[in-house]
Amino acid sequence: MSHVILAYPGNEALSASLAADSGAETVPVEFRHFPDGEIYWRVAGEVAGRTAIIACGLERPNEKAIGLFLLASTLRELGARRILLAAPYLSYMRQDRSFHPGEGVSARYFAQFLSGAVDGLVSVDPHLHRIHDLREIYTIPTRVVSAAPMISTWIAQNIDAPVLIGPDSESEQWVSQVARDANCPFVVLEKKRYGDRSVEVSVPDIAQLRDRTPVLIDDIISSAKTMIAAVQGVLKAGQRAPVCLGVHAIFADAAYDELKRAGGARIVTCNTIPHQTNVINVHPAVARAISELL
Ligand code: R5P
Repeated sequence: MSHVILAYPGNEALSASLAADSGAETVPVEFRHFPDGEIYWRVAGEVAGRTAIIACGLERPNEKAIGLFLLASTLRELGARRILLAAPYLSYMRQDRSFHPGEGVSARYFAQFLSGAVDGLVSVDPHLHRIHDLREIYTIPTRVVSAAPMISTWIAQNIDAPVLIGPDSESEQWVSQVARDANCPFVVLEKKRYGDRSVEVSVPDIAQLRDRTPVLIDDIISSAKTMIAAVQGVLKAGQRAPVCLGVHAIFADAAYDELKRAGGARIVTCNTIPHQTNVINVHPAVARAISELL
């Protein structure tokens, strides 16, 4: 086999899925920290002349970025022919422009960094808003997997008479696609963000949809303030308790508990980031996208 799979610690389920899809060998890696916090890697298998696929979601990216760089450099030193990265969650996509004087565009800088470290990238629904295509910032081949077909299948199989609700205009791209595939109505709310953990969401008159089950859909649940505000708005509008559905389950700090307390009916996510709410499996689609880059 001309390619091998390596799991960045914590990404074993994804790497197993990639290996199962392609029949490729999984090469074990030894990973630990030195007493001073620096990272140690050892690749315990043959990679010379082969394409090395690293399974590594990039949530909580600050340490992973350097870890990934060191692993990719090790693989090159050992003679790997190409290095592909399967990163179901792609970080640093939200600072996609300079919003205030003195700010940089982290999305672009991170793309430059990753483009230098690996030779190809697959991700799931990266936060493309003001940047419309990864090719605008990445100089390596990329593939974007859309979770929408898997989400609409799950909704069709699990929710009676759904109405999909996007909490803000940025979510419209996902919500409209899922609604089309699941053949149900959708509405998009209006959001004002005042700070990292402070948002306000306004709900239009949706009284005519009261006999439906609201499904709130967003790409990222981070502080969960967006979802919480949307749950509260939907309940205040007299709707049933909504299902909260996110693609990427970041759940920073106490976000998961706070969202659980908000009064929604259920929290469901895709397995782009390992979390107890993962219900929708996108790994086979990631494996198919990786095979396109081989
Ligand atoms: C906004 O740009 C995104 O689509 C999400 O709505 C946002 O990232 C959610 O963040 P939080 O959970 O911190 O409100």
